[in-house]
Amino acid sequence: MTASKSFLDPATAFDVLSSYSSNDGLSVTELFDSSTTGGLTYNDFLVLPGKIDFDAGSVITDSKITRNVTLKTPFVSSPMDTVTETNMAIHMALLGGIGVIHHNQSPEEQAAMVRAVKRHENGFITDPVVLSPNHHVQDVRDIKERLGFCGVPITDTGKLHGKLLGIVTARDIDFSSPTALLSEVMTTSLVTAPSGTTLHEANEILRNSKKGKVPIVDTEGRLVSLLARSDLLKAQNFPFSSKRPDSNQLYCAAAVGTRPSDRDRLALLVEAGLDIVVIDSSQGNSVYQVEMIKWIKSTFPSLEVIAGNVVTREQAATLIAAGADGLRVGMGSGSICITQEVMAVGRPQATAVFSVAEFANRFGVPVIADGGIGNVGHIVKALALGAGAVMMGGLLAGTTEAPGEYFWHEGKRVKTYRGMGSIEAMQHRSSAPATNGTATKNSPQPPSKVTTTENAATSRYFSESSQIKVAQGVSGDVPDKGSIIKFLPYLHTGLQHSFQDIGVRSVGELQSGVLSGKVRFEKRSAQAQMEGGVHGLNSYTKRLFA
Ligand code: IMP
Repeated sequence: MTASKSFLDPATAFDVLSSYSSNDGLSVTELFDSSTTGGLTYNDFLVLPGKIDFDAGSVITDSKITRNVTLKTPFVSSPMDTVTETNMAIHMALLGGIGVIHHNQSPEEQAAMVRAVKRHENGFITDPVVLSPNHHVQDVRDIKERLGFCGVPITDTGKLHGKLLGIVTARDIDFSSPTALLSEVMTTSLVTAPSGTTLHEANEILRNSKKGKVPIVDTEGRLVSLLARSDLLKAQNFPFSSKRPDSNQLYCAAAVGTRPSDRDRLALLVEAGLDIVVIDSSQGNSVYQVEMIKWIKSTFPSLEVIAGNVVTREQAATLIAAGADGLRVGMGSGSICITQEVMAVGRPQATAVFSVAEFANRFGVPVIADGGIGNVGHIVKALALGAGAVMMGGLLAGTTEAPGEYFWHEGKRVKTYRGMGSIEAMQHRSSAPATNGTATKNSPQPPSKVTTTENAATSRYFSESSQIKVAQGVSGDVPDKGSIIKFLPYLHTGLQHSFQDIGVRSVGELQSGVLSGKVRFEKRSAQAQMEGGVHGLNSYTKRLFA
C-alpha cells in the first residue's frame, strides 16, 4: 500500500498564493533587466493572461498620440510614398486612427492632399467640383474616372459662388454622347437648402428628398457648398472617426524635413488645415530638429509637433526639452529597413519603446512605436510598453487605400512597398504634372506622382547631397490586402480581445498595470517562439479575420 499524499485545502488557494514573494512571471523592469538580457524585440516576450470579468466589446482603445490629440484607435499610417496619401489619410481618420501624408512630393501637392483630407466628410463640401452648362458629358466622365464620383453641380460661371443652374449625376449621362453639352442633360428640378442650414437639417433634407446631392445656395441662388448622401452614410458607418472637436473636420497629419525650405512647405500645409506635423528624420537627435521644433512652436503655436525618430532616453530628452508634443520611436525595426545592417546603429524595438516611453510619459509626451508592427500582438505589446499608438508601413501597404497600382508578380496581385531610404525612393523623379487643383477636391484621388521639384525623402537620411547615396531601405512588393475598411476594424477587435485576455479594459489600465507590476510578462526562447507559432501541420491556410 502506498501512503496517501496529503494535499492543501483548495479553500486556502489564495492564502497560499499570497505567500509567494512575487506574482508569477516577470515585471516589466525584470523583463528589460539589461544584466540578464540584450535588447528585446516584440517576439522575444509574451504578456501573461490575467482575469476575464468583462466583455471584449467593452474594451476602450482611446489613446493619446500627442499632448492634445486623443484617437479612438491607436493606429497611425506611416509617411511613406507607398503608404499614405489622401485616400489612406482619409480612411485612417474615418476609422479612428490618423494618416501622416508623406513629403516625397512637391509642397503644393502635399498641401492639396492635406486640404482634401480636411475637406472630406466635414458635413458640407465647401469646395465641390463645379462645371458650367457649356462643358461636355465627357468632362463629367473624366471626373468620374479621376475622382470616383459624378454628381456635379452646374453654375453659370462653372465655379463655386456662380448661380446654380442644375446638377449632373450618373443617370443624366448614362446614354449621352460624350460631346453633348451639359445644358442638354443636366437636371434642373433641384432640391436645395439655404446657406445657414445646419448639418442636422441638411441631412434631414437629404433623407426625405432621396437625392444623392443637395446643393446649398445663398439668398441669390448662388452655390455655396454641397451635401452628399455618401458622406451621410459614411458618417453613420464610421462612429470612431478622428475629428477635431471644434470643426468636425477629420484630423490630418503630414511629414516635413528640417531644411530651411521645409519651413515654407509647412506654412502651406498649415494653410491647408494641418493639425499635426511629423518631423521626419531617421535620427532625430540633431540641432536641425531642435531648431525646427522651436521655430514651429513659435510660428504655429497650436500645431502639434511629433518629433523623432529616437530610441534612447538621451535622444528623447533633447526633443522633449525643445518642445515636442509627441515622439516617434524606432530605428532599424521597419520591415523594409537596412539601417542596422548598414549604419550599425539602432535598437531592438521593444527595448526602444519601453525605454523612451517610460521616460517621455513622465513629461506627458506620448510615444508612437514606429516600425516592425507585423500583427495584432505586436500592437498590444507596444501599447503595454507605454506607447500611445503604433505607426505602420508594411502592414498597411498593399491595401486598396495605399498609393500605387496593383500589378501581378509571380502569380500574386501586389503593390509596391519601399523604404523611404531606398535608392528608388531617394532618386524618385517623375515627369507627371503637378496636381491640377480639381483632382484634390472632395474625395479620395489616385496616388500622386512625385514631381521634379525637391526630393524630400533624401532629407530623412542625411544622404541627399552626397554623390554616393547610401541606402537604408529596400524596395519590394506586398500582397493585395483588401481595404483598410475591413483591416483596421480587425486590428481594433483583435486589440479588444487581447486586452480581455490580459484582464484590462483600456490602454490606460494596461499601462498602469504594467508599471505597477500587476500585468506580467514572460520571455520566449527560440524554441518557445516556435511552439507559439503554427507547427506540425502538413499544410494549412492562415485566414486572419472573416
Ligand atoms: P514597417 O511598418 O515595419 O514596414 O516600418 C515602417 C517604418 O520604417 C516607417 O514608419 C519608418 O520609420 C521606417 N522606414 C521607412 N523607410 C525606411 C527606410 O528606407 N529605411 C529604414 N527605415 C525606414
